[in-house]
Amino acid sequence: MEDSIDTQVLRVALDAPDSRLIQRAAARLRQGGLVAFPTETVYGLGANALDAAAVARIFQAKGRPASDPLIVHIIALTQLSDVARVVPDVGWQLTQRFWPGPLTLVLQRHAQVPAVVSAGMDTVAVRMPGHPVAVALLRAANVPVAAPSANLFARPSPTTARHVLEDLQGRIDLVIDSGPTMIGLESTVVDVTRTPPAVLRPGGVPIEVLREIIPDLQFEPRHLSLEAAVTTAGSPGMLARHYSPHAELLLFTGPLAPVLVAMRTLARERAVTQSVGILVPDEERACFDDIAAQIVSLGSRDDLAQIGRNLFAGIRALDQLGVAVILVRGFERTGLGVAIWDRLFRATEGRMITVEET
Ligand code: TXA
Ligand code: MG
Repeated sequence: MEDSIDTQVLRVALDAPDSRLIQRAAARLRQGGLVAFPTETVYGLGANALDAAAVARIFQAKGRPASDPLIVHIIALTQLSDVARVVPDVGWQLTQRFWPGPLTLVLQRHAQVPAVVSAGMDTVAVRMPGHPVAVALLRAANVPVAAPSANLFARPSPTTARHVLEDLQGRIDLVIDSGPTMIGLESTVVDVTRTPPAVLRPGGVPIEVLREIIPDLQFEPRHLSLEAAVTTAGSPGMLARHYSPHAELLLFTGPLAPVLVAMRTLARERAVTQSVGILVPDEERACFDDIAAQIVSLGSRDDLAQIGRNLFAGIRALDQLGVAVILVRGFERTGLGVAIWDRLFRATEGRMITVEET
């Protein structure tokens, strides 16, 4: 961007947010500024949702197409009627159980929310975060805050303030740094304007848990076959570019033992001519000990919450090391694993490698 702005960083403690710093950030929001802030999922890039010019700056700063709608963040259920026209019963049930938290609801947009927020659609996505710093900021700002993830368009979402600065320094007014986010994957997006409601993006609230309240909740992603029967030949052009590392990301899927053999073989081959990165759970790290590769740990393979928390940071860490290719395997596709699979699959842009039982 030509006009670089001086991006301020405010360090705000998670457990006791400094109210003067929070007031400063809230004032920037009310003045039409762009403020990146932590939520329990990922860092968001906030603007006053009722200020169309401020919201337009979000799209500009991120390089995000105007056709991609934003999520409006609120602090209290009383704010819901300021941003949404009608809330169906099932919507209220979901808010009761999951707000504040990593769940976003698509509702009918209230006329006072500018159309630019929703890419011109008559719906609006709304979420109530529970992160104490997000809560303090929203309360002080006293306006609903539109906030996509605070990354450049198509890059992995930021889970630390450093990630935000990597992408947006000079393009936004302020970043609140409260350390790494707790979940590390974005919210689950559920459209409750449809009957039955449908999951548009898997995320921090697992689909199985949502189905305790909505047994017929729809979830039919074309790219996310839960039966693992996805082909390798997927055309990259068919997938929206998303969560992309600079490196080529290769996603291996199939039974564990042959997958690890295939990863070793390919890593060794590629390492002859390329800088290779491997994202791997602790238990499998030793498989790659003798290979000249950069290895980043995702945590324990039995702890999907930990893998989810480390995923985007791991991809960014390998990018920072300048690797040309990143190898990673798929994980169990239940619970948070569905969101992990979704993010990895999109990041591969179709470069998935299915390994058969040997
Ligand atoms: O956890 C999160 O959701 C984070 C934090 C910052 O809240 N935000 C986030 O925003 O991930 P973003 O903009 O990166 O993703 C918003 C998602 C997109 O998939 C978008 O298409 C969908 O929500 N979305 C937003 N408004 C919508 C609408 N009116 N109808 C359908 N989908 C919508
Ligand atoms: Mg995003």
